[in-house]
Amino acid sequence: MGEAMNRFDGKVALVTGAAAGIGRATAERLANEGCSVYIVDVARDGLEETVKLISEAGGSVEFATCDVSDEGEVKATVKACVDRFGQLDVLCNIAGILLLERFEKIPVEKFRRVLEVNLVGTFMLCQAALPHLIESGGNIVNTSSTSALSGMPYGAAYGTSKGGVSALTRTLAVEFGKQGVRCNAINPGSIKTAMGSGGNLPEDPDMQLVMRAMPIDKARGPEVIASVIAMLASADGAHINGEEIRVDGGTLS
Ligand SMILES: NC(=O)c1ccc[n+]([C@@H]2O[C@H](COP(=O)([O-])OP(=O)(O)OC[C@H]3O[C@@H](n4cnc5c(N)ncnc54)[C@H](O)[C@@H]3O)[C@@H](O)[C@H]2O)c1
Repeated sequence: MGEAMNRFDGKVALVTGAAAGIGRATAERLANEGCSVYIVDVARDGLEETVKLISEAGGSVEFATCDVSDEGEVKATVKACVDRFGQLDVLCNIAGILLLERFEKIPVEKFRRVLEVNLVGTFMLCQAALPHLIESGGNIVNTSSTSALSGMPYGAAYGTSKGGVSALTRTLAVEFGKQGVRCNAINPGSIKTAMGSGGNLPEDPDMQLVMRAMPIDKARGPEVIASVIAMLASADGAHINGEEIRVDGGTLS
């Protein structure tokens, strides 16, 4: 298992969106540091691949399919995680979807769907996990985005959902801080994953606008986000609460 730091020995994390990208990299990172990880996603094949990667490295992992926008599935998933591992110390809300479309052309159903997955999904996971996190003195790391900090052209639905995630994060931090539960978020810039490789820009986009959010340096892989999530979720982040950390190589600086 390489140079494990084992900041998560004896801990249990629930990671959503772990079939690919940032979710997979985070599950691998936590497991590599001694965490038992319960990983969920809608994509079963990808989950099985993540399980293989973690098991082969000697990590402790269990998986289940779960659509984070379905309240019944979310509640069942949190229960199954605690039944399996006996506790829950860390919740990483990483599942998400991107929609790039000109504002005037976004159908309201698509706007709602992005909010349902990115924002309502995060809300429901937090709500279902909180009793267990209060018990363990655990914490939450949510996935916002630089689109919550700076206008993202063609990203009205996505940016709105991430702005909601940032506000929800601060709310939970103050509402549950006294009970020993921290809640933080990360704001990734453009990261090399399926989502980060562009999505589908609308036809004939204004590239000058699009370029505002382009990395000033080389685009990086999901491990640069996973390492910051791990810091926030570990004792190294013990006094960080209600914070969001921009991880974009300085793009918005
Ligand atoms: N890649 C980037 O550039 C970037 C930048 C900022 C923020 N983010 C955020 O990081 C998170 C992870 O993105 P990524 O880049 O790894 O993308 P990704 O597309 O590689 O991974 C997203 C995962 O979420 C899963 N998912 C989608 N809808 C789901 C649902 N309803 N229920 C459960 N799982 C679902 C997908 O199956 C996929 O495995 C997202 O919240 C995204 O908004 C990504």
